[in-house]
Amino acid sequence: MRVLLTGGSGFIGSHVAVALAAAGHEPLIVDDLSNSRGGVVERIRELARMPIPALVADVRDEASVSEFLAAHGRVDAVVHLAGLKAVGESVADPVRYYDVNLSSTLAVLRLMSAHGIDAMVFSSSATVYGSAGTMPLAEDGAVGAGIANPYGRTKYMIEEILRDVCAAEPSFRCTALRYFNPVGAHPSGLLGEDPLGVPNNLMPVVAKVAGGILDSVSIFGTDYPTRDGTGERDYVHVQDLARGHVRALEELAPGFDAVNLGTGEPASVLDVIRAYGDASGREIPYRLNARRPGDLAVAFADVEKAARELGWTAELTLADACRDDWRWRQATAD
Ligand code: NAD
Ligand code: UD1
Repeated sequence: MRVLLTGGSGFIGSHVAVALAAAGHEPLIVDDLSNSRGGVVERIRELARMPIPALVADVRDEASVSEFLAAHGRVDAVVHLAGLKAVGESVADPVRYYDVNLSSTLAVLRLMSAHGIDAMVFSSSATVYGSAGTMPLAEDGAVGAGIANPYGRTKYMIEEILRDVCAAEPSFRCTALRYFNPVGAHPSGLLGEDPLGVPNNLMPVVAKVAGGILDSVSIFGTDYPTRDGTGERDYVHVQDLARGHVRALEELAPGFDAVNLGTGEPASVLDVIRAYGDASGREIPYRLNARRPGDLAVAFADVEKAARELGWTAELTLADACRDDWRWRQATAD
């Protein structure tokens, strides 16, 4: 299968590109490098051992992307990962978030229509379940209510757009993958999460403390009704996620579908700090702080649908993710 990856130079897209190549598919990449670096594509090519066509462009520049598609022959499917993802920024600048995330998706849909591509895997998020869900979060549960930020609402709105497209075009095949908390890095140490701004998510913060770049981890909330009082999440290794995309592409069927990608096993903030401390051999100081507004106590996936429909289950552990993340950070620090 020839697959266009929008946002293919990013954290998740780069791993998906390598996983697709390993499974015998041919990835093509469009990325504007607004949150990734140019050198990533070379590393993807090295790991994939194939000459992957890549265009540096905003997907909303439909003329350039159209020319790129026309130049590279038939494309069977799109994995649409391009978008902005910083929750805090989305609260501060909602117009930019709605603009980029929604209009990128509309541009990709128009390009697909123009080039006769009717298959898409979309990067959605567990954030679409909002605050109303019961654990574990299952795909047939309510979505849309109580989403804490504009970023999350863009994911919900895009899912609705994709449902409408599938209703209008019965041959259109679309799966929204609802990622839980992606962590880890490629075991080679060549690919990992390398955001251009200040990290907000837990593991990048813990990693910077282990590396001596930050003094301590600020734990947001110690009075949650959880095992140790800190928030619990479902941390899924990016290599498992990447494999999930390959399975989702191979199983695409007409209509809209949503599938969770998570481990089904919640881990607390203290679990993550301990696991990263073990992986890095470093002490990880932390401070106990107030809850972060908008945070849930617990969020983890019902993983039954992914197993049943995609034959996919997460195989790697939090310890694996910490080890690979630490290896990647050591390699990039050289
Ligand atoms: P990322 O920022 O590393 O990757 C996104 C890539 O898209 C970047 O390389 C960026 O340069 C590119 N991009 C952004 N806007 C673009 C545009 N208009 N045109 C072309 N390229 C553009 O993020 P990621 O963690 O790899 O996330 C990929 C997708 O998964 C995003 O849609 C994100 O919202 C979603 N997602 C991520 C997480 C997570 O925690 N990482 C969780 C749930 C969902
Ligand atoms: C956050 C976003 C979510 C987004 C996801 C992407 C919020 C409210 N939610 O989810 O919309 O889809 O990232 O991965 O921002 N924590 C600390 N200290 C820190 C950072 C985090 O204690 O410095 C805690 C949080 O309170 C939470 C856990 O660590 O319990 C995980 O946080 P994070 O990595 O930000 O992910 P989510 O909050 O699940």
